[in-house]
Amino acid sequence: MHKGFALWFTGMSGAGKSTLSQRIYDRLKAQGARVELLDGDEVREHLSKGLGFSREDRDTNVRRIGFVAELLARNGVIAITAAISPYRETRDAVRGRIEHFVEVFMDAPVTVLAERDVKGLYKKALAGEIPHFTGVSDPYEPPLHPEVRCDSATEPIEVSEAKVWAKLQESGLIG
Ligand code: ADX
Repeated sequence: MHKGFALWFTGMSGAGKSTLSQRIYDRLKAQGARVELLDGDEVREHLSKGLGFSREDRDTNVRRIGFVAELLARNGVIAITAAISPYRETRDAVRGRIEHFVEVFMDAPVTVLAERDVKGLYKKALAGEIPHFTGVSDPYEPPLHPEVRCDSATEPIEVSEAKVWAKLQESGLIG
């Protein structure tokens, strides 16, 4: 038993959006929930193919994801999204369109992300090889009032998962 809602992950590359959103997706799915996961990398292969990383293109990408999440949520489906979505104004515009919206901020200092560098992108960005790289040469505007904040540099993933789950339960979005 659940409502339709958007679970919106935001945070820099490598902060754990994909990992945590996948865990929440799996857990909901295992309980029989109607749920979809819109992951940034996958969306850019399909829905947003051809878009780059200018502010305009990122906003277009984020608004498209928001539009799909809105359609799903209003039909009783749980829409989980995992894109950097770096601009506060754009995230808040999407929030304003979706009745039940839960924002999860995956927070980690860029120094830690650059050290982990799972995809090897920070190294390149710091060497000036990727222009407009979020957190290095492009802005990331942290949410001011996220429903959940996960400290992905210090917090075990199980703890982050439990925080998200508890928020969904206390909001009455899942049974
Ligand atoms: S968003 O800004 O439009 O929300 P999105 O989440 O779709 O970004 O894509 C981010 C992913 O694209 C990163 O995880 C990384 O793998 C890749 N990427 C390539 N170029 C950049 C860049 N300039 N800034 C950030 N991420 C980039």
